[in-house]
Amino acid sequence: MGGLSATRGGPVTVRAAAKINLHLGVGAPREDGFHPLTTVYQAIGLCDDVTARASVAGVEADTLGIEVSASDWVDAAAVPLDAANLVHRAAVALGELHDRPVGGSVLLEKSIPVAGGLAGGSADAAAALVALDRLHDLGTSDDDLLRIAADLGSDVPFSLIGGTALGTGRGELVEPVGDNGTWWWVVVPSDEGLGTPDVYRHFDRMRPDAPAEPPPADALLGALRTGQPLSLARFLHNDLGDAAIDLRPELGDLIVRGESEGALRGMVSGSGPTVVFLCESSDHARDLAGALMRTGSRVVLVANGAVAGAHVVRAHA
Ligand code: C5P
Repeated sequence: MGGLSATRGGPVTVRAAAKINLHLGVGAPREDGFHPLTTVYQAIGLCDDVTARASVAGVEADTLGIEVSASDWVDAAAVPLDAANLVHRAAVALGELHDRPVGGSVLLEKSIPVAGGLAGGSADAAAALVALDRLHDLGTSDDDLLRIAADLGSDVPFSLIGGTALGTGRGELVEPVGDNGTWWWVVVPSDEGLGTPDVYRHFDRMRPDAPAEPPPADALLGALRTGQPLSLARFLHNDLGDAAIDLRPELGDLIVRGESEGALRGMVSGSGPTVVFLCESSDHARDLAGALMRTGSRVVLVANGAVAGAHVVRAHA
């Protein structure tokens, strides 16, 4: 969280990373409909940049305008520009906390696929919280930022803190964990997104026997401490993987293809449909990415983890 010291008035750019779940243990739905999770998040070097400026022509200082520019693998048209965008809710929540209007113009420069299981919307919300806080010199405490983030969505607190972290509750309770590796991932986005609620509903249909307590992450946490990719590969775990593959069988084919091309392990990222492959090194990741492109994947990205949570990368006085 944070980074450079506060500025007054000038544009502020905050970077926030995509997340993958190295372990995603899912329990039976709670009374509020959410699923209890034991998850291990990792922030990877596939990032959105969010720039907040005080105002541009046509945007009142106390209202929020959102614009999007996107890498060619991101469906920019799928990003809502109205109150449905979490960035709007982030501004409203900051305004309520400080009892003043929090507006401006927000540009989302997106490289994280939309509805991809990589928490792209959560990353934008976390980045907007930090950017608007700096732009308006609000001095919001980390505790308040984390509390607002948890209200916005289950993954938003992790997008603030980044690194590698254990998530419990519905995913919103986060604490950093020991991680002695530099992990190289090949990331294969899908042309079409998958709705997180749909995947959880499908999980409920496929797993009516899911335990109240989600499966623990101890083995994965031990593997992280070894720093050894082969060990991590063995303990990667995603309870939503089968549901996502049942909805999109081609994801299963992609995992088989990546593993036969030499990935240590492939898995669905979160609720999908992005698939990630763990590799031994940067060279190995580059080779695998080439092989996947030669065998039919249109977009293949390479990223390493863990990287930082939402942080200021540019600020002008
Ligand atoms: O918390 P968030 O808004 O990101 O959740 C989006 C949807 O994903 C929820 O409305 C719910 O359907 C599902 N979800 C869930 N259990 C969780 C997290 C998300 O069922 N722990």
